[in-house]
Amino acid sequence: MKNKTGNTSQGEMEMKDSALFELFVSELRDIYWAEKHLVKNLPKMTKAATSDDLRMAFMEHLEKTEQQVERLEEIFQMLDKRAIGKRCEGIDGIVEEGKEKIEDTEEGSLTRDAGLISAGQKIEHYEIATYGTLKTLAAVLQLDDEIIDLLTESLEEEKSADMKLTEIAEGHVNEDASEEER
Ligand SMILES: [Fe+2]
Repeated sequence: MKNKTGNTSQGEMEMKDSALFELFVSELRDIYWAEKHLVKNLPKMTKAATSDDLRMAFMEHLEKTEQQVERLEEIFQMLDKRAIGKRCEGIDGIVEEGKEKIEDTEEGSLTRDAGLISAGQKIEHYEIATYGTLKTLAAVLQLDDEIIDLLTESLEEEKSADMKLTEIAEGHVNEDASEEER
C-alpha cells in the first residue's frame, strides 16, 4: 500500500507481512466469492417468491449486491491485491438450503416465502459477520479509512436488508403462511 507521497512506509510494510493481513485478504476473497455467487442466485430466489414485497426486496438487494462486488474490487485495488474469489462454503451451503426450500414448498404459497425469508436472513447474517470482522481487522491493521468506509457501507446495507426481511415476515408472510395446509 502506498502513502500519499507514493512511498510505502515502514509500518505498512510490516503490516503487509503479517499473518493477520493474510487472514484479512483471505476473508476478503471469501466474501468476494460469496457476493458474486449471490449475484447469480438472487434472481432465482426473486423468481420463486410469492409476495410482491418479498420479490421487490430481493430485487433491490441484487442491485446492492452488485455494488458490493464493486466495492470489494476497489478494496483489492487499493491493497494491490488481485480480485480473486475463494469458494465460500458457508454461503454456498446456505444458498443450496434455499434451493431445497423452494423445492419443498408449493409454488405461489406464503410458506415458500417464509422459507425464502429464512434463507435470505441466514445469508445476511453470514455477511454481517464477515463485514463486521473485516471492518474490525481493517482498523487493527490500520488500513486506509477509505477501505473502512467501503466495508461499513456494505455492512449497513446487509443490516438493513436483514431488517427489511424481518418486516416482511412479521408484516404478513408468517401469519398468512400459518393458515396454509400441508
Ligand atoms: Fe452482500
